[in-house]
Amino acid sequence: MSNRFNLLAPDVRANPYPVYAELRRNRHLCQVDPGGMWAVTRYADVMTVMKNPLLFSSEGFGRAVKPAWLGHNPFADSMICMDPPNHTRLRALVNRVFGAPALARWEPRVRFYAEKFASRIPAGRTVDAVESFTSLLPSSIIGELLGLDASLRPRFRRWTDDLTSITGTAPDDLAKQAQVRDTVAEFEQYVSEVLELRRREPREDLVSDLLRARVESEALTEAEVHSFLFMLLVAGLETTVHLLSHTLRLLAEHPEVLARVRANRSLIPQLLEEVLRCETPVHSVPRHTTADTELGGVPLPKGSRLLVVLASASRDEEQFPNGERFDPERSGQHNLSFGHGIHFCLGAQLARMEARLGLEALLDHFSGFSKDPEPVVWNRSMTVRGPVVLPLRFHAA
Ligand code: HEM
Repeated sequence: MSNRFNLLAPDVRANPYPVYAELRRNRHLCQVDPGGMWAVTRYADVMTVMKNPLLFSSEGFGRAVKPAWLGHNPFADSMICMDPPNHTRLRALVNRVFGAPALARWEPRVRFYAEKFASRIPAGRTVDAVESFTSLLPSSIIGELLGLDASLRPRFRRWTDDLTSITGTAPDDLAKQAQVRDTVAEFEQYVSEVLELRRREPREDLVSDLLRARVESEALTEAEVHSFLFMLLVAGLETTVHLLSHTLRLLAEHPEVLARVRANRSLIPQLLEEVLRCETPVHSVPRHTTADTELGGVPLPKGSRLLVVLASASRDEEQFPNGERFDPERSGQHNLSFGHGIHFCLGAQLARMEARLGLEALLDHFSGFSKDPEPVVWNRSMTVRGPVVLPLRFHAA
């Protein structure tokens, strides 16, 4: 029997941090299940990987999300699965579309949705905070970014679930495979329609900006815009939902922090940085070695598949004293929630803004919120971790 840790075992999903701590302390670099990837768990090793994209490549990510049974998946051709120089060119083109002017344009929309969904939560009885709030705000924003009709929002969860479940789909699960193929075709159809509309009638929105983007007179091709929009749905939705959910859960577990933040909202940005460090939504990202190398003293042959565990690095005691402790007064340390280096998250400022304005709207409407005895239900994925059901009770202001 294998003595590897299984990162998808239910007890590990419910709380993976003791396993990460054990890996950091005693096993350093070792293979984990399912799949036998090499888990990189120490802050210093994670930084080495993230700073060397040519030696620790992202391209295997693309192959993993385009298995033979799926054939075609625009996400696999997106920049998150690319190395330089292809990545460098695309990143330069989309960088400006995510700059400060775009953020300023999105802010009123984030405020609008935050207020709308907060005002609909009933006070005094238990609700699933994911269903009632934390999934609604990011999906409305991502829908607007993608230029999709609001009526399609209920489908986003199925689309992201299907697109993120590709690597976990069994070779003999033909029904699931057919469902994922349908989702790719359906989403692609909507994206094509939006692109055609914006080409004919550009607006002040992200899709029109992407179509207009130029660097030294070079533009994105139609296929590149397609892949980029696919990636946004996967990279920008579930991650932000989990950031909001983790924030609410941690505040419900620490009423004294909730009271401080309620009394002084300027503490919110620092609180969010600590939530991101302590409960980062993206637990790990994949890489593979392009040459024989070694990491932290462990030899790795060319082609080794790595699981870079950001959630472990963000609690590494060598970098963060008392790293396992949630301490919103902690400051000044760089956490790895949004990655590091050339693939650093493009949506980091947008995600922070959604979490800040989302929390502010809830504080406007309620005196607080508390955990319900109903258990939190966790999602099942190697890369992203968060509650799928979060029972909370909101108290009238
Ligand atoms: C709390 C929310 C979020 C977290 C924790 C997060 C985390 C990350 C991480 C760790 C990476 C690096 C992946 C790697 O190195 O392989 C990344 C990349 C990326 N993220 Fe986010 N993300 C969040 C929200 C968003 C949002 C809202 C968007 C856009 C709407 C977005 C768009 C992207 C894009 C486009 C990349 C790829 C950048 C590149 O390859 O150069 N993310 N994100």
